[in-house]
Amino acid sequence: MKVFLYFLIAFIANKEIVKIVEAISYDKKNVVIIMSDDMGFHDVSYRGSNEIPTYNIDSLAYNGIILDRFYTSPMCTPSRSALLTGKYPHHNGMQNYVIVSDEPWGLPLDEKLMPEYFQDAGYETHLIGKWHLGFYKEEYSPVNRGFDTFYGYLGPYVDYWDYTLKMFSRNYSRGYDMRRNSEIDRTYKNVYATDVLTKEAIRVIENHDNEKPLFLLLSHLAPHTANDDKPMQAKEEIIEKFSYIENEERRILAAMMHSLDESVGDIIEALYNSNLLNDTIVVFFSDNGGPSVNLHSTKASNYPFRGQKGSGWDGAIRTGAIIYAPFLPSGIIRRKFFYIGDLLPTLLNLANTNIQINKKIDGLDLSNMILYNKAPFRNEIITIDDIFGYSSFIFNGFKLVNGSSSEGFDDGWLGSNNNSDINSSQYISEILRSKVSKYLEIFKHPLQPDNIREIRKRATVQCSGIHNNCNLLNGPCLYDIIHDPCEERNLATPENVFMKIMQEIFITELQHLIPSHRKPPDSKCDPINFNYTWSWWL
Ligand SMILES: *[C@@H]1O[C@H](CO)[C@@H](O)[C@H](O)[C@H]1NC(C)=O
Ligand SMILES: *[C@@H]1O[C@H](CO)[C@@H](O)[C@H](O)[C@H]1NC(C)=O
Ligand SMILES: *[C@@H]1O[C@H](CO)[C@@H](O)[C@H](O)[C@H]1NC(C)=O
Ligand SMILES: *[C@@H]1O[C@H](CO)[C@@H](O)[C@H](O)[C@H]1NC(C)=O
Ligand SMILES: *[C@@H]1O[C@H](CO)[C@@H](O)[C@H](O)[C@H]1NC(C)=O
Ligand SMILES: *[C@@H]1O[C@H](CO)[C@@H](O)[C@H](O)[C@H]1NC(C)=O
Repeated sequence: MKVFLYFLIAFIANKEIVKIVEAISYDKKNVVIIMSDDMGFHDVSYRGSNEIPTYNIDSLAYNGIILDRFYTSPMCTPSRSALLTGKYPHHNGMQNYVIVSDEPWGLPLDEKLMPEYFQDAGYETHLIGKWHLGFYKEEYSPVNRGFDTFYGYLGPYVDYWDYTLKMFSRNYSRGYDMRRNSEIDRTYKNVYATDVLTKEAIRVIENHDNEKPLFLLLSHLAPHTANDDKPMQAKEEIIEKFSYIENEERRILAAMMHSLDESVGDIIEALYNSNLLNDTIVVFFSDNGGPSVNLHSTKASNYPFRGQKGSGWDGAIRTGAIIYAPFLPSGIIRRKFFYIGDLLPTLLNLANTNIQINKKIDGLDLSNMILYNKAPFRNEIITIDDIFGYSSFIFNGFKLVNGSSSEGFDDGWLGSNNNSDINSSQYISEILRSKVSKYLEIFKHPLQPDNIREIRKRATVQCSGIHNNCNLLNGPCLYDIIHDPCEERNLATPENVFMKIMQEIFITELQHLIPSHRKPPDSKCDPINFNYTWSWWL
């Protein structure tokens, strides 16, 4: 068809026709990003684990592209900043910890964010769910940062049933945190938060004017904990399904993941029903690794990776991602490195926006890698929290980890590796019966059981289980991260020349570090001053 049209153009050489053809060949694709919060690597089932089955997410993976070495930053705020700006957090002062709700700072206003680029390309842009990039002044809130509409919460997390945040480290009152655009919204009462956000995302999809391209970021609460007085919250009837998981917290986590998995199925269904699915790029990933112990622990498991959220270990930053579109390759695994900040230029290109980024960013356009496994490739990934004193530096397939975020306590392999599920014999049939399979099969050949088994096997990360000592309290550790993904065999020695070179490159890189914008708490934010809601206070 295209060949014929080009022939026609060449023949007629009429400018008007050229314009029309461009519109057909380079039509803009919709972009839907589904981001989970604090999800562990072992808490989905497409990478080999049977413990928590996630049939919809898995089907998306088998029908799409698994980005095997997808890296994020190690915590919520820095990772979300990198996603939206395409920059390493230490290049815009976002690298230290997260924005605590009483701290008056946010993602700098001179940054141009992903939704603003999509707006430039004529997209309607929507954020559903978590923001966590600052709200002490109204101009920091999502509708002033490139999102045409927003439904969600401004802070780090809320209760799954009443959408309040209570800071137990302070004496502030409990505050409600759910808004539609700029206004407090009380539409939902006692509806599970994952379902609230899914319903609102479906509303956006159903109300979308298909003449315009759509950009939707669904930034889920799940499976993050709720407030410290009742951190683990899921629907009772779903928790019962997982009675085979002995640990109670992990059983509830499984139910949180189950609701998240249903959300993915429902979003695909809504895209199909609105005639959008065949023109949409869907991306799924977690903002960072899961917390297995201590602060906000959900008993998440990053098995077989080492460490957890908030560290330089792969358990914090290698989260695994899926990208799917009917017009992208299907059923493949891309093994090259990908950093969360690469999504900005890559999606702008894959979606045919024709938008150039004129700022200096760290993100690379890796569309060629996604489409053809071709260069340019990412060679380096930097993680740093200079205040908490930990970092990691991936360079040419090696990884230097320096400084412990836990005084050495949480530097081991923390997550459950339980792989038994009562239903594993039904795994293949459940994948084929999932909502995602049902709708994606309309555009391509259905998945075959052998393909599923094969992709899943190749997506499973293998470790040796044999490790030598690495004590970050005594100095940095070095890994061949391609052949030793579980960070088991420390190669750091005083004589290691390659390590010295890496350290030098890293130290040079740190000369470009922008100091953290974090500010001390300001008690004027206390929700008691705002009718018991979290609101901009300055
Ligand atoms: C909270 O209030 C109590 C009683 O006034 C006080 O003892 C405590 O130090 C306060 N805690 C914080 C974190 O401000
Ligand atoms: C296991 O299979 C049974 C029967 O099909 C079903 O009722 C149950 O919900 C399944 N459990 C899980 C965790 O999916
Ligand atoms: C997608 O489907 C819609 C509705 O069936 C159709 O109008 C549109 O042309 C399709 N787009 C592509 C790229 O096939
Ligand atoms: C793993 O799961 C099985 C049931 O599926 C259970 O019997 C066993 O105790 C679990 N092991 C751990 C360490 O939780
Ligand atoms: C490693 O960490 C130590 C202690 O936190 C710090 O003094 C040193 O500069 C770091 N080295 C590199 C290469 O980051
Ligand atoms: C304060 O919040 C309550 C709900 O808790 C609401 O009914 C009331 O209208 C709010 N008052 C103002 C002034 O917004």
